[in-house]
Parts: sequence; structure tokens; C-alpha cells
Amino acid sequence: MATRIFYPTSRPREKALRNAVSGSVILVTGASHGIGKAAAKKLAAAGATVLLVARSLEDLEQVAADIREGGGSAHVYRCDITEFDAVEELGRRLLAEHGRVDVLINNAGRSIRRPIDESYDRFHDFTRTMDVNYLGPVRLLLTLLPSMRENRHGHIVNISTWGLRMPPAPRWAAYGASKGAFDIWLRTVATEIAADGVTTTSVYMPLVHTRMSAPTDFSGVPGLTAEEAADLICHAVVARPIEISPWWTGPVQALSDLRRGAAQRFMERGLGRRSGE
Ligand SMILES: NC(=O)c1ccc[n+]([C@@H]2O[C@H](COP(=O)([O-])OP(=O)(O)OC[C@H]3O[C@@H](n4cnc5c(N)ncnc54)[C@H](OP(=O)(O)O)[C@@H]3O)[C@@H](O)[C@H]2O)c1
Repeated sequence: MATRIFYPTSRPREKALRNAVSGSVILVTGASHGIGKAAAKKLAAAGATVLLVARSLEDLEQVAADIREGGGSAHVYRCDITEFDAVEELGRRLLAEHGRVDVLINNAGRSIRRPIDESYDRFHDFTRTMDVNYLGPVRLLLTLLPSMRENRHGHIVNISTWGLRMPPAPRWAAYGASKGAFDIWLRTVATEIAADGVTTTSVYMPLVHTRMSAPTDFSGVPGLTAEEAADLICHAVVARPIEISPWWTGPVQALSDLRRGAAQRFMERGLGRRSGE
């Protein structure tokens, strides 16, 4: 019930989803687990050909087998999104083999939650989150965008985080900065590609109970299931809104803009102090 109040989910009608995706080619990065896996299954069940990307080949093969068993169409591409040459090659291969990518669900991601005083000898935390959450997706889109623009058709759904719609929270510097970098990059590029019929949706995803969020103690915090998160992605694909965020992030942001000092103190004394436990 609490989940419903905090994060009302939007599930498109079956027919609307089918009409939107039937016959289309949808690339889902991070399709081996969690949100990406659930989204790929829903989109394939509605008639899309899904291209599944991640590093774990066996898990991808299993997702593809489940999809095919249900009568859907899925293709597996093992790729580490941080290997930029391989990502460029992947983009070219997808276009060669499928002719086009209609929708990209940019979902592959890595989260790190660590206080700064434990990060002084961990510069790699910052480079690797940037590689996965920012530079890899940029590399992929630099290869896919020309084709989308030429076709005058394409949609990019970015799985961002609610953290970007809130005052910065302690311990999330590496993750927040890397997700923020791609968020700004895509929203900036969106202003240039809209004229060519290519649209974007930034999903400021709330807490979702997956293997990513499992190591952090979010017990008692209401969150979505991967299936509910996938419904939001399906909604993004059907309705193509510019943004999807939990309803309360708007008022919280407005309030914290008005009372910036108070918001900062709350993070320092509340979450910040607790983070030191
Ligand atoms: N869970 C949450 O509460 C939450 C909240 C807000 C936003 N998000 C965002 O939602 C997205 C999905 O997260 P999730 O919760 O579903 O996590 P997850 O279950 O850990 O799934 C992450 C996916 O990304 C793939 N991935 C990670 N590193 C990769 C790499 N270098 N190259 C290719 N694929 C890679 C993983 O596959 P392999 O390991 O097989 O490569 C996996 O399929 C992320 O972008 C995350 O930032 C999550």
C-alpha cells in the first residue's frame, strides 16, 4: 500500500503497448538481471524484437530462451559497456543485422555507495561508475544516433535515478555524479535531435528491489518490484513523456531550492550522521 502512495506506477494497456512496439526493434542494455530483464520480457511479449545486452552470457541466453518459449523474438549480444571499441562495434553490428534500432532502453548501470573518507585511495570507484553510467552509453549512442536521425524516428529511454531529483545524499558521490553526467548529456542532446523525430524519456526511477539495491539496507523503505519498474519503462515507450519521476520529487525539489540551507543541514545531520554508523 505504501508503495502505491509513494510511487504510483503506470502500466500501459496491453493493446496500447502492443500497438506501440509490435514489429519494432528494441535494444535493452543490462538485460541479464533486474529491471532490464523484466522490461525486455514485457516488451518482447508485446511483440517487439528485443536485443539483449550485458556481460553475463548465460543469463542473457536464459532471458532469450524464456522470451522465445513465450513466442517472442530475442537476440543476445554479450558486451561490456565499458569497453568502448567493443561498444562501437556492437552498435554497428546491431544496425547491420537488424537495419535499425527503434528504441534504446539505456539501463545497464552500476551503483557504488561509499563515504568520501573511505574513498581517498579509491579513484577507480569514480572512473568505473563514469565508464558504465556515462561514457559507455554515450559511445553507444554516438553510433546509433545517426541512423535514428536519418530514419527520422527513434526513442531513447534513460533509466536514471530519483536521487537526481533530490538534494544530494551522502555516500552517493560516485554514482550520483555519473548518473547526472549522462542525464545532462542526454537532455542536452535531446534539444538537437527532436527536430529529426528522435525523442527521449528520462525515468527518475525510485527504489527498486533488485540485486543492485540489495546490499544497502533499505528495509522498511517502500520500493518497486522489477516488474513494476518495467511497467514504467513500458509506459515510457508508449507515451514518450520527456520525464517520469515519483510525484513528490517536484515539491521536495522546490522546497529544497527555497530552503537550500535547511535541506543541506537535513542531509548532513540526518542522513549524513547516520551514514557514519
Ligand atoms: N535498483 C534501484 O533501486 C534503482 C533505482 C534507480 C535507478 N536504477 C537504475 O536502474 C538500472 C538497472 O538497475 P537494476 O536495479 O536492475 O540493477 P541490476 O539488477 O544489478 O542490473 C544491472 C544490469 O546492468 C548490467 N551491467 C552492469 N555493468 C555492465 C557493463 N559493464 N556492461 C554491460 N552491462 C552491464 C548487468 O549485467 P551484467 O552484470 O550481466 O553485465 C545487469 O543486467 C541501473 O541503471 C540503475 O542505476 C536502479
